[in-house]
Amino acid sequence: MAKAKSKPMNQGLGAAKAAKQDEFYTLYVDIQKEVEAYLEFDKDTFRGKVVYCNCDDPFESNFFKYFAANFNRLGLRKLITTSYDGSPIAGEQLSFFEYDEGNGERQKPKAISIEIEEVTDLDEDGAAGIEDVKLFLKRTPHTRTRLAEGGDFRSTECVELLKQVDIVVTNPPFSLFREYVGLLVKHRKKFLIIGNTNSITYKEIFPLIKDNKLWMGVTIHSGDREFRVPDHYPLNAAGWRVDENGVKYIRVKGVRWWTNLDHGRRHEKLPLMTMQDNLRFSKHKEIKGKKAYDRYDNYDAIEVPFTDAIPSDYDGMMGVPITFLDKYNPDQFEIVGITKTWFGGTCKTYPKQTQIGKDGRESVVTKLNDGPSIKVEKAPVGRTHYKVANEHFIQLYARVLIRRRRARPEKGRKK
Ligand SMILES: C[S@@+](CC[C@H](N)C(=O)[O-])C[C@H]1O[C@@H](n2cnc3c(N)ncnc32)[C@H](O)[C@@H]1O
Repeated sequence: MAKAKSKPMNQGLGAAKAAKQDEFYTLYVDIQKEVEAYLEFDKDTFRGKVVYCNCDDPFESNFFKYFAANFNRLGLRKLITTSYDGSPIAGEQLSFFEYDEGNGERQKPKAISIEIEEVTDLDEDGAAGIEDVKLFLKRTPHTRTRLAEGGDFRSTECVELLKQVDIVVTNPPFSLFREYVGLLVKHRKKFLIIGNTNSITYKEIFPLIKDNKLWMGVTIHSGDREFRVPDHYPLNAAGWRVDENGVKYIRVKGVRWWTNLDHGRRHEKLPLMTMQDNLRFSKHKEIKGKKAYDRYDNYDAIEVPFTDAIPSDYDGMMGVPITFLDKYNPDQFEIVGITKTWFGGTCKTYPKQTQIGKDGRESVVTKLNDGPSIKVEKAPVGRTHYKVANEHFIQLYARVLIRRRRARPEKGRKK
């Protein structure tokens, strides 16, 4: 038996994207934890619904497995799954003749769709579970359909299926995230999907967040998550593990659930101190002891470098880190903009600037316009900064621009 190996580092979805790696498979436990969180808020979230996993190999995908195994408990009306042409893991656990029928020399499995409308105790072991689904799929070829267009979620066949469903749940290919979300929104679907934290800065995604049509899920807020990768995946300079069976896993940073399904976390109020108390007692040295919060030079807002340092009594605009979205309660705050793309929000455009790097090296750039800037008295030493005429500026990370909502009745937990 091969010995399990691991390497304690991780890599971001950006790296996956750069390597055009769309084959990261979600672990069952991560799906289970997230879906169960919606049931805590509303036990009927999935009752009577048609769920569609549209980037998923029937049986190898844990999305398919979770919804098939819990079909009756969730009260699903139907589960539809479509796989993608050439999937490297299709057929590993359960093979269908449609995968290679007429394939000739071609080794790649063809795409199929599977539709399940009931899960019964076929093996008569006293419970209807995943083994029954396996048996059912083996016995009922009519539940499977070959996908002539390869299972691309954008294909006519898959879009026709999409039109019939209520909720889409999957981890889609990272490289097609914008297009994927765009399609779900166009067809007004409910969804629960995995994506990159940085998606918030995409021009196709941020307006949805701002308009409360998209928000973060419940269970992933920081750190990384482990995903299974295909056997051919190169394990170089990343946190990885190979289990006793030779199956490879990598740890991926910056992952979040994205959804438009309501959940309890969105209605929890963020406990905050007043501005004065923050300036006196904040646990952050960047805030404690200051006379006032810094203000941006290119936007009329204060800089709040930590979500827990948002002053509870400030009515103006505030720039907060992107991770604020993990705590965002739309009854407490309004999202107004983002400093990365600005969406026309910036109030100042700088002429070309001199960028002075950490090592003192100078270059002429226009980067200062790409984010929130703060004017500083003196040129900082050992930190990248910018010079415009004789004034010095530093630039901050992308910030979400928010404003507190005046007292509105809070939404309660659905019984
Ligand atoms: C990030 S993986 C996730 C797989 C599975 N949903 C899971 O979480 O385990 C994305 C999957 O989408 C498939 N895929 C890639 N491009 C696709 C497309 N255009 N349409 C549908 N599926 C696609 C890949 O083969 C891969 O299985």
